[in-house]
Amino acid sequence: MNRFLVFVLLAPLLPLLASAAPTGSIAGSGTPVISAIPASETVALASDDPNAVLWNVTIDTDTDPQPIRGALGASIMAQQNIPLQQLNPDLLAPPTTDAGDIPNLKWPFSMSSNRLQTGGWARQTNINQLSIATSMAGVDMRLEAGAIRELHWHKTAEWAYVLSGYMQVSAVDSNGRNFLGTIGPGDLWYFPAGIPHSLQATNQTEDGAEFLLIFDDGDFSEDSTFLLTDWLAHTPKDVLAKNFGTTIEAFNNIPAQQLYIFPGNSPSPDAVAPEDPQGQVPSPYTYKFSEVTPTQLAGGSVKIADSTVFPVSTSISVADVTVEPGGMRELHWHPTQDEWTYYLGGAARVTVFASSSTARTYNYEAGDIGFVPATYGHYVENIGNDTLHFLEIFNTAVYADVSLNQWLALTPPAMVEAHLGLSQNTMDLLTKTKAVVVGPNGP
Ligand SMILES: *[C@@H]1O[C@H](CO)[C@@H](O)[C@H](O)[C@H]1NC(C)=O
Ligand SMILES: *[C@@H]1O[C@H](CO)[C@@H](O)[C@H](O)[C@H]1NC(C)=O
Ligand SMILES: *[C@@H]1O[C@H](CO)[C@@H](O)[C@H](O)[C@H]1NC(C)=O
Repeated sequence: MNRFLVFVLLAPLLPLLASAAPTGSIAGSGTPVISAIPASETVALASDDPNAVLWNVTIDTDTDPQPIRGALGASIMAQQNIPLQQLNPDLLAPPTTDAGDIPNLKWPFSMSSNRLQTGGWARQTNINQLSIATSMAGVDMRLEAGAIRELHWHKTAEWAYVLSGYMQVSAVDSNGRNFLGTIGPGDLWYFPAGIPHSLQATNQTEDGAEFLLIFDDGDFSEDSTFLLTDWLAHTPKDVLAKNFGTTIEAFNNIPAQQLYIFPGNSPSPDAVAPEDPQGQVPSPYTYKFSEVTPTQLAGGSVKIADSTVFPVSTSISVADVTVEPGGMRELHWHPTQDEWTYYLGGAARVTVFASSSTARTYNYEAGDIGFVPATYGHYVENIGNDTLHFLEIFNTAVYADVSLNQWLALTPPAMVEAHLGLSQNTMDLLTKTKAVVVGPNGP
């Protein structure tokens, strides 16, 4: 991280360095290398402090975490919330590479207010909780077996990842083509903006289901969706009678207000959509992501679902990443896409580099949301002793990232050398293919 920052800090000096470079020389590999002015003659070298995380977030042994890093800081004398401090070592005692300020990039779902209903609940995180996340909002929703999130639609697209249990979803598109699908843990669904749909937990597991919903607008509110019952309760009954060609009495049993989430009888997991003269939707609204085999990497695994494999999902893509203890999602950024990160398990450390000598480090655990604005450099390090598992979610049709290591490996070596003063041995370690997740000892 130090060297990465130094590189970026030096970048504006590049023209100066290049013009001042005296002569070319030949390195061991036969590659011409410019002998640049040593960094120490232009700016100071970065500190050798490893700036490692200071205490173990996964083991509750350090019951008295203090804001002290080396000679810096001092003990807390007044009020403190020790459990929260234990979980956030890099906020209480940040690495010395952190500098400047950026909007908050962490929100635990535990801090979102919940909406309790008969049959389930829903808690959301939108710009009211995480103001920087203008591109996406998330909802954690729970339905007991058979419970229904009522027929509705909304202005945004809806993407979901099933966290636990099994769900049956239905929809009808604007051409009158219908869809019915049943999916389980680790599977996805997607409904384009404005397409009406329903969600129902099946009884394939006794307790029903829980799932993560993502909407492609940070201003989305789960409380502002267009519900079937809400609409009918706010439409004159003579209009209802005329619309359906019947009597006002036919609507004697409609609810006076929205149902939102309510109990129901579990459907059969094998149920199929009603016969449709228009046919089925041309591209399924569900995707069995759980059946995709992840790519194994030095320090973990990755699998990606975007519109190239799940064609209907044109506004949300996801990378499902695991990182083994000591491993790290490599230094990278996403060229045009904000990242809404959801932590499924383990303990992570992330430093987000925001340009302008600004960087902030956060710690995340299961149930936390992270956010990384488009173009901000970052890594995700496993700082626990369990597998770290998270979802990188983007408001985009096609997943994309840029790897720092690959970028440097594919840039003329003399150019890299002029910035970083790396030894030939280190230059030889640069990898021309993306490592994605490195192990404790690298790619
Ligand atoms: C936390 O403790 C585990 C188990 O002893 C160990 O594997 C891991 O390296 C520790 N992490 C840190 C940051 O000290
Ligand atoms: C689960 O639901 C099905 C209907 O799809 C029903 O036949 C079955 O009895 C239910 N099982 C339990 C354990 O409730
Ligand atoms: C992590 O460390 C704790 C404490 O040493 C231990 O109880 C737990 O079993 C470890 N977990 C793994 C997956 O090794």
